[in-house]
Amino acid sequence: MERITLAKKKKTKEQEDEEFEEKPLLEIEDADSKILKELVNADRLQIEKIDAMKIKTKDSDALKVAESVLDVETRTTLFNLRKRKIIENMTGVISTGKEANVYHGYAPDGSELAIKIYRTSTNIFKGLQIYIIGDPRFAKIKRDQRSLVYAWARKEFKNLSRAYKAEVSVPKPIYNLKDVVVMEFIGEKSLPYRIMKECEIDDPQATYKEVLSNLRKLYTKARLVHADLSEYNMIYTPKVYFIDISQAVLLDHPYAEIFLFRDIKNITRYFYSRGAKVQKPEKLYEKLVGEPPSNKVLAFEM
Ligand SMILES: Nc1ncnc2c1ncn2[C@@H]1O[C@H](COP(=O)(O)OP(=O)(O)O)[C@@H](O)[C@H]1O
Ligand SMILES: [Mg+2]
Repeated sequence: MERITLAKKKKTKEQEDEEFEEKPLLEIEDADSKILKELVNADRLQIEKIDAMKIKTKDSDALKVAESVLDVETRTTLFNLRKRKIIENMTGVISTGKEANVYHGYAPDGSELAIKIYRTSTNIFKGLQIYIIGDPRFAKIKRDQRSLVYAWARKEFKNLSRAYKAEVSVPKPIYNLKDVVVMEFIGEKSLPYRIMKECEIDDPQATYKEVLSNLRKLYTKARLVHADLSEYNMIYTPKVYFIDISQAVLLDHPYAEIFLFRDIKNITRYFYSRGAKVQKPEKLYEKLVGEPPSNKVLAFEM
């Protein structure tokens, strides 16, 4: 008894998403809602286990937060992701943030997933519109909260895909539906590797070089500026992964140079503090862009 039917003929993902938009979202049968419950209720034992293993959770009552982000529509989306054989189950919370929560889960083939779910309930995006406005890929989005959040999730997925294609070290993008982005899990046996902020770096000089090489590929091949690059958005395994790429902008974004210079300054500050021999941000910028930062870029404080 499927009220929310999957498209029979092969359709583009956009068409499929639009179709889903038109279906009543509350009409899930009881049997289905049981599966749903199993799917989305990160079970308390698992959470406690994860807490005991000291996976970072900014909120000790992670389960509560986890549930609060999963409103009926998001649950429906997760249910559809299960029907599309993207997600088999969700096992626990990795992170609860202001704009999104990240969950650990499994694909039907048993591989581990990171499932990032954006909050549709928050107004936090007000301050972030600067990244979307001015991006031609998002010229036509509606300005209501939910559409904005969906656009944001789609933006993360698109940016992730661009970066991945350009061979930047990022989690492999797997799927996006509405406010949910599914990607490769950077971790092992449900334990995520840590962000650089929380790590000892074995060889700061080598890791600095690795980060710059990724930055170069992101800029020259993917033609993106991350715009929030720092030790908080790089995972260290010790291989480096760039994450949290939703706010990244194309090079023709009016603030692209300003964001790039800020990213470079963050990287420089971090690796300097870890004892690496670093180049001056101005020098690095010039090497990457081909010209020194303009006065506008230098003067900008964010
Ligand atoms: N693919 C992933 N694999 C493992 N852990 C991840 C992955 N993506 C995110 N995380 C973890 O979740 C945290 C939050 O993710 P992030 O994308 O930075 O969202 P935000 O900072 O907006 O809350 C990260 O700091 C990291 O610890
Ligand atoms: Mg982050």
